[in-house]
Amino acid sequence: MKGLVLAGGSGSRLRPITHTSAKQLVPVANKPILFYGLEQIRDAGVTEVGIIVGDTGPEIRDAVGDGSAFGLEVTYIPQDAPLGLAHAVLTAEPFLGDDDFVMFLGDNLIEGGIRHVVEAFERDAPAAQLLLKQVPDPHRFGIAELDDDGAIVRLVEKPEDPPSDLALVGVYLFTSAILDAARRIEPSWRGELEITDAIQLLVTEGRPVRASLVEGWWLDTGKKDELLEANRVVLSTVEGRVDGTLAEGSTVTPDVVVEAGARLVRSHVRGPAVIGPGTVLEDVFVGPFTSIAGDCRLERCEVEYSVVMERCHLRDVPRLEGSLLGRDVRIARTERRPAAHRFLLGDHAEVEITEGRV
Ligand code: G1P
Repeated sequence: MKGLVLAGGSGSRLRPITHTSAKQLVPVANKPILFYGLEQIRDAGVTEVGIIVGDTGPEIRDAVGDGSAFGLEVTYIPQDAPLGLAHAVLTAEPFLGDDDFVMFLGDNLIEGGIRHVVEAFERDAPAAQLLLKQVPDPHRFGIAELDDDGAIVRLVEKPEDPPSDLALVGVYLFTSAILDAARRIEPSWRGELEITDAIQLLVTEGRPVRASLVEGWWLDTGKKDELLEANRVVLSTVEGRVDGTLAEGSTVTPDVVVEAGARLVRSHVRGPAVIGPGTVLEDVFVGPFTSIAGDCRLERCEVEYSVVMERCHLRDVPRLEGSLLGRDVRIARTERRPAAHRFLLGDHAEVEITEGRV
């Protein structure tokens, strides 16, 4: 069995972060989302992995390399344009050959790994095996309709009128039958070759397609609030350790990770939280569910329920919460006159201010 990881796509729902970087490399608990999937594939015993890349390919290659750091052998497969998941599968045909494969969407996170699904697929040998999860907003996903015995009746991509609330999770197991099906479908209303339509074709033709429910959490990290929620859930599973320095009365709760080279001065961190290597906190309070990446500097701030990426510099920010800050962001209080907010914001940036209401 091979692995096929999809790390193309434009990440439009995570702009402006994704103007400059791949959505699959946005960190959750200070680790790129993509790395969780690669580790789960490896833990399921799959070592030969193709990664589909688009415009952000160079960044993905820099982060993953030849895969040896993960115990994987990685082949990069450029996709000319993000024309859909089934198009990605067709693009990967020379890599896949006739082999069975597990396809993993690089912005999905699932609890507990995929070993048991891979084993079930190898044991039962269906044409395709899907994972489903109940969601509150089924019109945003591929949706499965099941009969009373749990067999798949119909699959539909982003339905206006959803036949159920069972979403297709972004992990699929396929035989090479999916390649033939993908060649025979037409682009959807959004101009993409949908994997959902290709699997539906297998169902229509009476090929065995199995589905099982994901019992733990499944997180699709496409938007800011989902990303913060993913960060909350994953941080809750992290074991605390202090490899950095706690100076001048700094304290952390037991569920906090302070990486080597991080330095806390007169600061308090209430976990779960992670503080990245080389980051300095001075007179700072960090509240639960916060990830601060490496080489940041925070002075006289309070931050809670937020993801702060590398090299951010925050000074005299009384309270920040529910925030996602990209790399090298600077926020500072100033005494300069006129007293006003001054911004330099990238396209699609979002700012909420509460002070100075008129
Ligand atoms: C894709 C699939 C959809 C699936 C979802 C899971 O949606 O088309 O069927 O439910 O991934 O994350 P997209 O991310 O392309 O909107």
